[in-house]
Amino acid sequence: MAKFQNAYGFFSEDGREYIILTPLTPRPWGNVISNGDYGLMVSQTGSGYSWRGNAGQNRITRSFQDLVKDNWGKYLYIRDVETGEYWSATYKPVMHPYEEYRVVHGLGYTRFRQQVQGILSELAIFVSAHDPVEVLELRLTNTGAAPRHLDVTSYVEWLLGFAPDEHREFHKLFIETWADTPMQAAFARKYLWGFPDDRGRYNNIDWPYTAFMAASEPLKSFDCDKETFIGLYESEEHPQAMRMQRLTGRSGRFGDAIAALQVEIGLEPGESRTVVFTLGAAENGREDAGELIARYTAPAKSAQALEEVRAFWSRFVDAEHVETPDEALNFMTNYWLKYQAISCRLWGKAAFYQVSAGYGFRDQLQDSLIFLSSEPEYARRQFLEGDVLHWWFSIRGGGPRTNCSDDLLWLPFALDAYLKETADYAVLDEMIPYLNGPAESLYHHCKRAIERAFSRFSPRGIPLMGDHDWNDGLNAVGTLLKGESFWMAEFLYLVLGSFIPLARRCGDERFAQKCASVAASLKQALNLHGWDGEWYLQATTDEGLLLGSHENEQGRIFLMPNIWAVISGAGEEDKARLAMQSVTRFLLNDYGPLLNDPAFTRPRSDIGYVTRYAPGLRENGGVYTHAATWAVWAYSLIGQPELAYEVYRRICPPNRSSDIDVYRAEPYVTPGNVDGPLSPYYGRGGWTWYTGSAQWLHRVATHWILGLRPQAEGLLVDPAIPAAWEGFTVRRRFRSALYHIEVKNPHHVNHGVRSLHVDGRPLAGQLIPAFEDGKTHRVEVLMG
Ligand code: GLC
Repeated sequence: MAKFQNAYGFFSEDGREYIILTPLTPRPWGNVISNGDYGLMVSQTGSGYSWRGNAGQNRITRSFQDLVKDNWGKYLYIRDVETGEYWSATYKPVMHPYEEYRVVHGLGYTRFRQQVQGILSELAIFVSAHDPVEVLELRLTNTGAAPRHLDVTSYVEWLLGFAPDEHREFHKLFIETWADTPMQAAFARKYLWGFPDDRGRYNNIDWPYTAFMAASEPLKSFDCDKETFIGLYESEEHPQAMRMQRLTGRSGRFGDAIAALQVEIGLEPGESRTVVFTLGAAENGREDAGELIARYTAPAKSAQALEEVRAFWSRFVDAEHVETPDEALNFMTNYWLKYQAISCRLWGKAAFYQVSAGYGFRDQLQDSLIFLSSEPEYARRQFLEGDVLHWWFSIRGGGPRTNCSDDLLWLPFALDAYLKETADYAVLDEMIPYLNGPAESLYHHCKRAIERAFSRFSPRGIPLMGDHDWNDGLNAVGTLLKGESFWMAEFLYLVLGSFIPLARRCGDERFAQKCASVAASLKQALNLHGWDGEWYLQATTDEGLLLGSHENEQGRIFLMPNIWAVISGAGEEDKARLAMQSVTRFLLNDYGPLLNDPAFTRPRSDIGYVTRYAPGLRENGGVYTHAATWAVWAYSLIGQPELAYEVYRRICPPNRSSDIDVYRAEPYVTPGNVDGPLSPYYGRGGWTWYTGSAQWLHRVATHWILGLRPQAEGLLVDPAIPAAWEGFTVRRRFRSALYHIEVKNPHHVNHGVRSLHVDGRPLAGQLIPAFEDGKTHRVEVLMG
């Protein structure tokens, strides 16, 4: 049965797939597929690009971000050799009329199904679970009454290095292409990569891979030159190659590098045949392109590889499973948010709307929490990669060291979540080198991060804003190291609270006491200087002006300092309550809580680039999903479960299926932001996939609505749910045991646990013990 159906698509019955019925969705609706090394992005039109390791430094195929045309891709042309009529296996590039068009985005694959001219084409695109290879498996069926003689032509444009390579006349001079007819493949190398050599000389090293495209059928012809394939002044839509019997067979060092392979297929009426194309990049001296080609480029092998992809993703998503009366919550929590956070944010680091390819320190740590529900070991690795740059690139080269105030504190923050999940305290002693110094234990890394925060307080005891806080757009507020961030005061307070027991555990009583006394004075200073009367201030600027105050005409109230007053516990109870009332009154709107209101309409050079965005967009007065998820946490903590759930419901993407033409974005992944009220497109989702909100939307649902929160001593059950719910179930691992948890709510309450049974035995309190016995345990919870 179709779920959350709208004019363009719907979820499958179990929510694991999203089915799109037309190429003409209101914006490109894509999939970002990565195995942690090789990745690709593909939209519902069939456009997209591929990379290995890093989408910015190591792009394999060429593409440019065109939000309207979405016309860069890796395409397959299908041609009737007798009539000369041709189309493509995806809507782009030919845009041929079709009788049926259907796209299925799944975890690790996308399938296209199209019926054109009596030929049914079914194309599956996926990345091998283990190798730097993507597979395009095309099955063609003759649904007519007469035999058909077709050819299929693949087309990709090579980039091979840093993207975008706008200066093609330069870059094409370094690429060499060749075809190997017995191997049924075309290859490419580039003798230039945008990194310095070992003596610091730029433009003096090879791109260290061999790119390949291969086919499972003998080649009828090939072409490695764009000019002869497309034809001068022609286009991908109607390339010259489709008017020629065969491709020209050009290759070498003097063309504009592409790979096009042409194979022939005869089909009797009713007959189906499958042809497999593979595309990839083998590392020279370590991997053999021929071997990779042989491993995947045949129908039986690609079918097996797709099975492996399913098993691969099952490992990351199926370790935890929830069933609640809210299917949007189920679908997103069980599959899509985990997939988005891992495949796109952590591994792919690229999507249609943003090609980042950089590792953001705070982002990486927050995103890695997604692994805690399946593979905590992966999160552990993130800490051990600890670093103090604001962001950096994975392959080589550093990023900026900034005065950003919060970055480094996300290390102890994420560590706390990791320890509560795993109790793996040995990680505290793990030795990790600094970028610029000898190794120290993880405990000391965290301690230094906190000490650094201690060194940056204003005379009244509020942390300095520095280059910005969590809100990157506040990048002029405090660069002179005078402006203050009240959100930082709260964040630091929270981090200190969780670090004190760790300091004690590591025998560092003095530091534990220091943290406790700083925390106490932070709380006092926040409530004294950060209180505006009805809500908390966001900041003071270097000039001493208030930000997020009733005195301001624009940016009067900010979400972050108010919800974090609750989350951190730093807000005094009555103030925190009033602050949340103000959030409800002034910020909570139809699509979730705004990040600030009113939006800035004029650039303010003393505040930063947040004021330069169009009003209502991104951090300027829109719903910034990442922060909006934290409002769920705050409402839940302060004892307003109905509002917590209401915020969740409004920002949970499948629910926007009902006004999809306003929303426009994919209903199966989170958007970075939703336009605020000053935008003429109020309610429109933007910047999907590549957003830190995915991990957090998953976490607030499981921890703060379903209320299952790992603690040092066990798994706390503290649901805060809509009273209408009859109950819900969760299957999850905690430490080494598996728990089947059934929560019943016959009295229709929001909150409160009346009884708890574990394996049939009643237990006092709300804590499920950590059995650590590798067994399965049955937990029954009665609310009331
Ligand atoms: C972006 C950044 C993130 C930051 C947020 C708010 O998503 O990646 O690090 O906290 O914007 O400015």
